[in-house]
Amino acid sequence: MDAVAVSLGGSFLVKENGVDVALTREIAAVLERVSTQRRVLAVVGGGAVARTYIQGARALGAPETTLDEIGIAVTRINARVLLSSLPHAYPKPPLSFDEALLASRSYPIVVMGGTHPGHTTDAVTVMLGDAARAKRIVIATNVDGVYSADPRKDPAAKHLPRLTAEDLVRITGGGDAKAGGTGVVDALGAKMIARSGIECAVVDGRDLKALEGALLGRTDFHGSLVTGGR
Ligand code: UTP
Repeated sequence: MDAVAVSLGGSFLVKENGVDVALTREIAAVLERVSTQRRVLAVVGGGAVARTYIQGARALGAPETTLDEIGIAVTRINARVLLSSLPHAYPKPPLSFDEALLASRSYPIVVMGGTHPGHTTDAVTVMLGDAARAKRIVIATNVDGVYSADPRKDPAAKHLPRLTAEDLVRITGGGDAKAGGTGVVDALGAKMIARSGIECAVVDGRDLKALEGALLGRTDFHGSLVTGGR
């Protein structure tokens, strides 16, 4: 069975006032349905909780690498939250790609968090998708795709339903540590998409129809489709 790797921003599952139980359950139901047709490898982000903890520890003087470790710990907690609604998934977040790949041989759904300091879960998703020879990578974020510029800052920004991996690298800032331009995919993640050559869908994770269509490999979902790496 083909594999699909999906990045789920932690902000969908855990809001500032707690776990979004309804949305988490709905996203889990989408993953369960898709898993009858594709092996699902999901990576959960840190969201607001990670940012809050990182800010606090930074104010206390923690080094950047330690802040990343705090972020990784939160992504793994968020992965556990999602796993709470996935009875058929591998029961814990794998700590490495090897563990995720082995788990994926026996379980239809695997959910993990971050891996090492220095990048975000977008990059983890692309690496996992690459390692699993996924046919598609899906970035589920809080905007409905990639724009030519940051739509919050530039009213002339255009939604891009189709773009190349090279376009994505250019738009995301091509190496800026912060996700530049659109903020939908971090710069390293964009470079790794180009390197992997795997097609990548960017959708709003709250749009469950778009999410499911993208996960199933369709091309008519609402969002952006990035093609033509490598
Ligand atoms: P996220 O992947 O959630 O980062 O990981 P983000 O893009 O800043 O957050 P969203 O998309 O808005 O939710 C949270 C933090 O955890 C660390 C990084 O510091 C990252 O900013 N992290 C995560 C790592 O260092 N390595 C990883 O593999 C994953």
